[in-house]
Amino acid sequence: MSSLAPAFEVNGLAADGLDDAKPTQVSWKEYRNLRHNVLPIRPLGSHVPAHGFKSPRDVPSDRGLLADPNLPNLLGLGVQRIDLTPSIGTQLTGLQLSQLTDVQKDELALLAAHRGVVFFRDQDITAEQQRALFDYYGLPELPGDNPEDGKKSATNTIQEQEQDYRKTYIHFKWPFADFHADSSFEINPPSFSLLRVDEPPPTGGDTNWISGYGTFESLSPTLQKFVEGLSAWHSAGHVYDSVLNHWSGHPPTRPRETLHPVVRTHPVTGYKSLNLNSGFVDRIDGLNRYESDKILELLFTHIHTAIDHSVRWRWEKNSVALWDNRATTHRATHDYAPIHRHGVRVTIIGEIPVLKKDSRARREVEKELRNQPNLPAVYNENLRKGKYLTETKPVF
Ligand SMILES: [Fe+2]
Repeated sequence: MSSLAPAFEVNGLAADGLDDAKPTQVSWKEYRNLRHNVLPIRPLGSHVPAHGFKSPRDVPSDRGLLADPNLPNLLGLGVQRIDLTPSIGTQLTGLQLSQLTDVQKDELALLAAHRGVVFFRDQDITAEQQRALFDYYGLPELPGDNPEDGKKSATNTIQEQEQDYRKTYIHFKWPFADFHADSSFEINPPSFSLLRVDEPPPTGGDTNWISGYGTFESLSPTLQKFVEGLSAWHSAGHVYDSVLNHWSGHPPTRPRETLHPVVRTHPVTGYKSLNLNSGFVDRIDGLNRYESDKILELLFTHIHTAIDHSVRWRWEKNSVALWDNRATTHRATHDYAPIHRHGVRVTIIGEIPVLKKDSRARREVEKELRNQPNLPAVYNENLRKGKYLTETKPVF
């Protein structure tokens, strides 16, 4: 693992700066298949970001790969596990994230990879401890290539939301705070995120997650094959405009976009995950705009209506959610204005998304597993306890 950013090229030539008027194609010899564009600075005010872009990184392998799938250390004495839905979301009670041993942290990472999001209540973990926990898992998300630049911002991300965002998300194609995987427009999008809400509104502000395993496996086999051949551009353009124009913020990095596979393989579970989100995905590569818009409309509707692959979490003071952005998308509910809401979020960066030939849909794997006795604890309760006597067939 190198901590130094690799040398880059611009438009196929030795780098000589970014174009302010049109997208600049940035590439790296070590990452030949990567396609990344730095977009022009938007004509909204006079802000010039301090950083141009972030270089690709090799990241440490997932701690979840080292964990026992029976989770014997995490699900110890006094710990209760509640699967909130069959497809996604597990709540753990009876433990403090601030007290986890390393082997428990590994098992938590494995559980999150399978269940998409793991919830906790009444946590005493501090912002510094959140950062320390995530430093155990991997590399922090930084605003630019220089690790020195990010030391402070990597400590935590504070979210303070008291405006009515339903009136300010005008730059997005879909209304307000749509489903997204955190910073999916990055070359190395975050793998894990953790949010602790310390000042929840009395009601409202729930967050919703959708399983990417679920939205992939519930497509027809024909459509699964089709989307596996596609890649999509994930763009920071809309959020850049919103930050600058409506949130009075100053984005640290230029708007940029990266081409990622529409179906990606999770490095721990090996499952295929639908790697699309209406918050950041702008277009499918290689199609004309009409084709791309229509196919994305179909797939975004599929995601928005996947209630059987979703979980909704009501925040209380010091509730925590730890989620895997490679297996889920999420969406906050901005229904609490003008009440203040405050939380602390940390992330780590993940691998560059890929679709591996030997990966499979979760449902295919589970179909084989469900007839095996004594399935490991990492699988959901229904799969471990169900009796599958017959295959369900369509009625007509
Ligand atoms: Fe998010």
